[in-house]
Amino acid sequence: MPLQPPTVDGASPPVDLATVDLATIDLTDPHTYLDLDVRAMWARFRAEQPVHLHPATDQGPPFWAVSRHADVLAVYRDNKRFTSERGNVLATLLQGEDSASRRMLAVTDGPRHREIRNLMLRSFSPRVLAPVVAGVHERTAALLQEGLARGSFDFVTDLADHIPINTIGDLMGVPVEDRERLVHWNTQTLSRTSAEHTATEEWLARNEILLYFSDLAAKRRKHPGDDVISALATGTVDGEPLSQEEVVFNCYSLILGGDESSRMSSIGALIALSRHPEQWRALKDGSVGLEPAVEEVMRWTTPAMHFGRRALTDVELGDRTIRAGDVVTLWNSSANFDEEVFDQPNRFDLARTPNKHVAFGYGPHFCLGAFLGRTHVEAMLAALRGTVGGIELLGEPVRLYSNFVHGYSSLPVRLTA
Ligand code: HEM
Repeated sequence: MPLQPPTVDGASPPVDLATVDLATIDLTDPHTYLDLDVRAMWARFRAEQPVHLHPATDQGPPFWAVSRHADVLAVYRDNKRFTSERGNVLATLLQGEDSASRRMLAVTDGPRHREIRNLMLRSFSPRVLAPVVAGVHERTAALLQEGLARGSFDFVTDLADHIPINTIGDLMGVPVEDRERLVHWNTQTLSRTSAEHTATEEWLARNEILLYFSDLAAKRRKHPGDDVISALATGTVDGEPLSQEEVVFNCYSLILGGDESSRMSSIGALIALSRHPEQWRALKDGSVGLEPAVEEVMRWTTPAMHFGRRALTDVELGDRTIRAGDVVTLWNSSANFDEEVFDQPNRFDLARTPNKHVAFGYGPHFCLGAFLGRTHVEAMLAALRGTVGGIELLGEPVRLYSNFVHGYSSLPVRLTA
């Protein structure tokens, strides 16, 4: 990708997805997700190459791209034959390793994964989080009121950017004055806003986050509070404290996981509601409940487009044989639109039930923060429903440049009461 040379203004000419050779599509290239009709692309993969061997690119060796819901679930659930320890996203899987392997929950398997997960789950259960939920609702409603008072504003930078970071910041006890810097580093680490952002900037931002938490964890070890960093810094597994690296890498993963995806689902919700006025009306008049609406927003927005694994042994999947050592990517953004599982998948239907989406993954690595992620979307839908009458997009939403996060860096809107 781009499949054809870019035009002078940088935009690629339209690609006819009905005829394009699937073997020429580069899933590692962020342009692919900006230039192509991604829904149509995945529909073709599911129909023609559900377990597709993606050719080598300048990013690394060949890898498998799995697009059907049933196959994605099968790999997610099987952490005996597919490991996360050599990376769980394209960027690290293609490098051959994740530098946080066995020291960060998402890239640890086996008994250690279960033990650390249990330790962390204590800070993330709905019961412990109950007071946080009220805070998310209050913050969201207050920011939306500010937006309404201003009339037109940027929904990303003026509003969405300020919500999840403060929730996770409160949970972790991150000083308020440091949070803006963290959002900035998060965006640079996960999802560049354009092709001009360099890998060096990404690497530097990642190091800034690690150094930041290294410092904070050392302080909490000496003077613990009732926050998640203190829980990690003073917690034990089999009577042994976690290593400093485990504490720091897990903080890193919480701040990234806790911020970026939650922001993106709320932003995606607003765009979807503005483009589907009948669904917006159904939400407003109460004919759909918040619970199914949250699930449909998660499915529709699918902020984490893919995750991945490395095969530990030969495995038959569909009619293909994955070999031990192969990289396997699981496309949530395809599975969530699989016509075998979702009736009229391209319909945004807030009342959809059942809704077995995989936006939060599945199986042993199922998202630790799913409850918190859902809370953010629910708070946004509740606040929009309660206070906003009209949503008008004032320009095209600006998309992130990423092969991993599906989201936006800017969204000018006008909201009316
Ligand atoms: C894992 C998505 C919010 C922390 C995952 C996975 C997905 C995901 C798909 C599975 C990764 C894999 O299988 O390799 C999302 C989405 C969110 C969200 C779409 C918001 C809308 C959060 C929040 C937190 C969080 C709020 C923490 C505060 C984590 C952690 C893991 C994880 C620690 C690793 C779990 C494990 O390996 O056992 N997330 N997430 N996420 N997520 Fe989230």
